[in-house]
Parts: sequence; structure tokens; C-alpha cells
Amino acid sequence: MRRAFLFAVVAFAVAACAGTPNGSRSRARAARIKEDPRVDELLKKMTLEEKVGQTVLFTSDWTVTGPSMRSGYLEDIKAGRCGALLNAYTADFTREVQRVAVEETRLGIPILFGYDVIHGFRTIFPINLGMSCSWDIPAIEESARIAAEEAAAAGLQWTYSPMCDISVEPRWGRISEGSGEDPYLGSLISAAMTRGYQGDDLSKDNTILACVKHFAAYGAPQAGRDYNTVDMSERWFREFYLPPYKAAIDAGALSVMASFNELDGVPAHASNHLMNEILKDEWGFEGFVVSDYTGINEMIMHGYAADESHAAELSMNAGLDMDMMSAAYMNHLTDLVKSGKVSEKTLDHAVRRILNIKAALGLLDDPYKYCDPQREKERTLTEENKAFARQFAAESMVLLKNNGVLPLKKGEKIAVLGPMAATKDDLLGSWRGAGQVEAVPASIEDAIKEVTPVAASASKVVLVLGEPWDWTGEAASRTSINLPVEQTELLKSLKKQGKTVAVVLLNGRPLDLSEESEYADAILEAWYPGTMGGYAVADVLFGDCNPSGKLSVTFPRDLGQVPIYHYAKNTGRPYIHPDAKYESRYLDCPNEPLYAFGHGLSYTTFEYSAPVIPGSTSVIPGTDRESPVLKGDGTLTVKVKVTNTGSVAGTETVQLYIRDLVGSVTRPVKQLKGFERITLQPGECREVSFTIDSEMLSFYRQDMTWGPEPGDFKVFIGGASDNVKEASFRYEI
Ligand code: BGC
Repeated sequence: MRRAFLFAVVAFAVAACAGTPNGSRSRARAARIKEDPRVDELLKKMTLEEKVGQTVLFTSDWTVTGPSMRSGYLEDIKAGRCGALLNAYTADFTREVQRVAVEETRLGIPILFGYDVIHGFRTIFPINLGMSCSWDIPAIEESARIAAEEAAAAGLQWTYSPMCDISVEPRWGRISEGSGEDPYLGSLISAAMTRGYQGDDLSKDNTILACVKHFAAYGAPQAGRDYNTVDMSERWFREFYLPPYKAAIDAGALSVMASFNELDGVPAHASNHLMNEILKDEWGFEGFVVSDYTGINEMIMHGYAADESHAAELSMNAGLDMDMMSAAYMNHLTDLVKSGKVSEKTLDHAVRRILNIKAALGLLDDPYKYCDPQREKERTLTEENKAFARQFAAESMVLLKNNGVLPLKKGEKIAVLGPMAATKDDLLGSWRGAGQVEAVPASIEDAIKEVTPVAASASKVVLVLGEPWDWTGEAASRTSINLPVEQTELLKSLKKQGKTVAVVLLNGRPLDLSEESEYADAILEAWYPGTMGGYAVADVLFGDCNPSGKLSVTFPRDLGQVPIYHYAKNTGRPYIHPDAKYESRYLDCPNEPLYAFGHGLSYTTFEYSAPVIPGSTSVIPGTDRESPVLKGDGTLTVKVKVTNTGSVAGTETVQLYIRDLVGSVTRPVKQLKGFERITLQPGECREVSFTIDSEMLSFYRQDMTWGPEPGDFKVFIGGASDNVKEASFRYEI
């Protein structure tokens, strides 16, 4: 083993304060990387070909028994033509591949091993859309920490997560991988996941490098078709799509993946605007950017690059540092540098970033530090991890409807029916890491059987419906967001037989449940809840866990309403009058969604007082009315009392929305700006206060500067975006 190097230092950003989202914001900035002297030394020694090799990422192949390398790739590694691998893991296997890189190459530079650890590695947590419905930021961070620990013990140092793509497009299968529609919630989550993966020291043996993806706006494909064209104004892009990527960078993320889509006519893989201008110059990002899978040579199909060499030239010059699977860099970068189409300085810049990260991960000190089979055994699928997964899965579920049938009583006879009742496979969802069906201890049916007698003839039915897991995820777009028709028919026929039916849903996108919600007595949205999902569903159904999830994405009543989201604009003709024709409305469907953003029931009930804004007031110009006032850089407190009016303890997510009534550009009718999760005992009342400051009122003004504008504002507080109480205030400069 060669250990020719000194040390690497990454100074991480000040920790973000995302755990207390009610108005507080991250004070973090992009992580700074101190140049590692060993990197300079290496760069001096490297041939042009060896430099190019560090920008090349290939996948390992898989056999039924585990990962294996195509012999060609091993030759590439030996020749220094490939510096990173994806889809190769286990401590033993990565040790062997690492040995080849370290001992059989001229310079002995270690390989970086990456994998899609998206919602868990071996212990699988709910899919990300489900996680986001917990609104539990510390728990989300903890799930990433556990995933990192398990992955790092299996030889990995790099995950392709967090996925930061905002989406209001339920047809798109990858909406399941993100955190829903809202940039504020999405930002808290992407920062939390980054902290969970990377910890405070990337060189530890239980932390891994995060990769912010897919940069950018991948979640807005036209017609909901994967990989499709994206086009939106720079203003909309910056306000509603960019924040979660930025929040992850601010939390210290040190790699970023380009997205497959084009934006404003330019494929993201060649976008100087996205990678060089926004990411590296504006945000000061010092990590490296990797392509998505074959994303560089796909620019030929986009009609943007004439051939593979042209594609490599465009990408490298636009700031894309590493090529995943296109082999365009491997095949052409050396010649491109020799011909002057790419400067050696640009190549060095990419290689330096990649090597600095390898150093920060500790690989230059000990390339085998992640390859310890004993640690792999001890840290994988532990009882603690599974207990956390069970609790977290229950927290991610959203009770959409309940006429009182839930919670079920332990000991009463229950029928468990439906095509998804006995599945273990579907519980894991897509992008299940190294999660295995064999590690799932119970299906929903198995778990219910452990609590209560199950009899097909029982009058109470738990009906488990949904989409098979591979109907969501990558390349899984649908033109319908309904359940399969036989499933709805099954529900109807049970109701005709006079049964009481609680529907449990396993799915990965907002569905049109308008028909089901008419028939079902209760609907529990369980998403794909992961390894412990069967037990977690039973915990919620029987009331051992009182549901507390809130939708992070709007559920339409008809696909024709899409895109539908809570931060819509008012328009010049908002729909106000029930019989009006010339207002912004449909002839055949209400404007309102079926289940609004933020919606989610509990087995108890919460009552909200009207929000109160104590403090100084001023007269609203031209009127004799007074209004509370927020001045300049000051703050304003808005308070509300929340009471648990039911008979069991419950957790409520108190949500704060704001509206700017008049702006130099029009503003949303409601925008989430804060929330707080509180747990109340029966009868308990708690005062919740939010601090409002000018940053929370800020937006991209007409001249594209970021800041607030003076005027009148509304503040809304409640338990769902469509169930709020309001107050007003003025902002004065
Ligand atoms: C996906 C990425 C993923 C990559 C590597 C691509 O197809 O778009 O999200 O990280 O494959 O598996």
C-alpha cells in the first residue's frame, strides 16, 4: 500500500439551524476546502491521461451473488483511466478493487465508491416523499445518519442523495424520490440529509459524501414524462426550484449531480449558467460536479452536441468535473486538451476538486478505512436501526380521511384484503439501496395478524391498495394517477356488502382518490414505508402510534387540475362567485384539491385560537385602521394557542403561511414560511410563536434583486394550508 500523502482538511460550514424551522434560517455557507498539499504534489506528477482518469466514473456489474467488475474496467483502473466506481459495495469487494487501484497503478490514487443510498442502505426507511410528510427534520437527519453508517461500513464513501427536486407533477414517477412541492420544507430536508450523511467530519468511518441532485429543475418535466424538456422563467426557477439545492450546499454538501433535462434550451450537462455561474461562482461551491448516468453523451440526442468529443468539450468547459458512464471524458479529454479546446487549467480545476474530496474522506490516509467486514456486520440492520425505521415509518404516514373507524380495537375481528396486503417487496419502494425483501420481517397482513384475529368474513376490513413499487421512481411516469380500476371496484363491492373499510395505500405519488374517498371509511396514506413498514402500518391502525404526517404535496381531485400547489397566484379573476363564468375555474371540477398541502388527520383533534401579533401598531395610510408593524430589520412575533381537544395525546404540525398583498411582481396567495411540531396531552394547550423578519418577506423583485417590499401582509396559521386562521401586519422600511 502506498501512503505518499500528508493530510486533508475540510473546514465545514457553521451548522445550519434547520431543526427549528419556525422562521429561523441557515446561517451556513458553502463548505470551504483547504487545498491539500498532497493534491498539488500529485497534480505535478500526473500525466494528462492520469488526470483524465480521475474524472471518469464507471459502474460495476452485478451477478446474482453480488457485485463484480467487468474485466475491461479493471484494466481501466489498473491503467489509471478510472478514478471512481458506482454500484460496487461490501467491505470485501471494495477492498479488493481498492487494492488494485492503490497497489497496481503508477500513482496509487484510491478509488471513490458511490451508490444510490436514497432512503436507507440496508435498513430501508420510507421513500423520500413519505419521509417529507413527517415534517420531522431531526428524524430525517437521523435516517440519513443511519444510512451513512451502514453504507460506509460496506465500503462506500459517496451517496447520490439528497434528491432536491421540487415537483408539482404527479405523473412523474420520480416525485416519489423528492420532498414534495414546497421549497421551504424541501430546503430544511435537503440540509438535514446532508448533515446526516456527512456529519461534521467527512473523514470519519461512519460518514459519507452527499451528492445534491439533480441540478437543476429535473422535477418539472413537460407532460410529466421523465427526462423531458424543462422551461420556466429565471424568477420562478430561483424562487421555487433552486432553494433546496442551495440549502444542501450551504449545509456543506461537497458534490452535485447534473440533471438529464434541458433548461431554457441548454442541457444541464453543458450549462455554464447552472454549474459555473450559479453553483461555483455565485454560491462558492468548492466540491465537484458529476454527470448523471450517460448524461454527457445524451447531449448528442438532445441535438446540442455534434458528437461525443463535442459533448465532452461542452461539459468540461461548463464546469462538469466527472463523467458518469459516458466514457466521453475517457475517450476525448486528452485530445481536447492537446488541441486547446479545453485548457489544461480547466482540467486541473476538475481534478483538484475530485482529489481534494478523496483527501477529505480520508482515502489518501487509509484507502481501506471503509472496508472492514467486522464493522459491516456490526453496524448493519441493527435492532436500533430497525426500531428507528419502524417509528419513522409510522410518522411518515398521513391519515387522509377517518370517519371514526380508526383506530381499530385490538382483539376485534378484522379482514385484511387487497392486492398489496401480503407484499413485502412493495414495502421497500424504488431506489431501495441494498435493502432486501428477506430482511422485511412482516407484510401488513402479517403484522396485523400478530395483533388481532384475522377473518375474511369480518365486517371490518383493512383494504391494502396501491401502486406496485416499480410504478414510481425513474422512468415510471403515468398518464393516469388513479388506482388500478379493479382496486376501486373491490372497495366498492365491499361497501355494497355493508363492510366498514379502512383503506391503506402503498404508493409513491399523489393519486386521484376522489372516488375512493367517497367510499372508504378511512384512508391511511402509508407510501412505501420500508423494511419495518408492515409493523408501522399496524402501529398506526391500532393506535399505538397516533398518526401525525402532513402532506408535503397536494392531492388533486382530478389530473386535469395539475399542476396544483398551495403557492399559486391569485390571477386577475380569482374564483369567488359560485355561479360566475368568467373567473379562473373549471366547468366540470372545483378548483380546490381533494387533500391540500399540509393536510393530515390525527386520532385526536386540535383547536387553534386566532393568531395574535403583540407589539406596536401604526395607522394604515388612507384609513383609520391600525395594523401591527414590522420595521426594517426588526422582527415581529405572531402567537397562536393550540389545544388538544380530543381524548388521546397527539402530535400536530403548526404551519405558518404568509401573503404579500401587493408586490412589484405578483406574489402567491399563501407561502409556507415556518412550522413547528408539538405534542400535546389531552386537554393540553400550548402557545406557539413564530418570529417574522424581513427575510421571510423577501422575494425576487421586478429587477431580480432579492429583498422585501413595504406594504400589507397576511399571516395564516393552522393545521393545513386550507385550514388556517389569519391576521394582518404591515412592513415598513
Ligand atoms: C439517476 C440518478 C442516479 C444514477 C446512478 C441515474 O439514472 O438519474 O439519480 O443517481 O442513475 O444510479
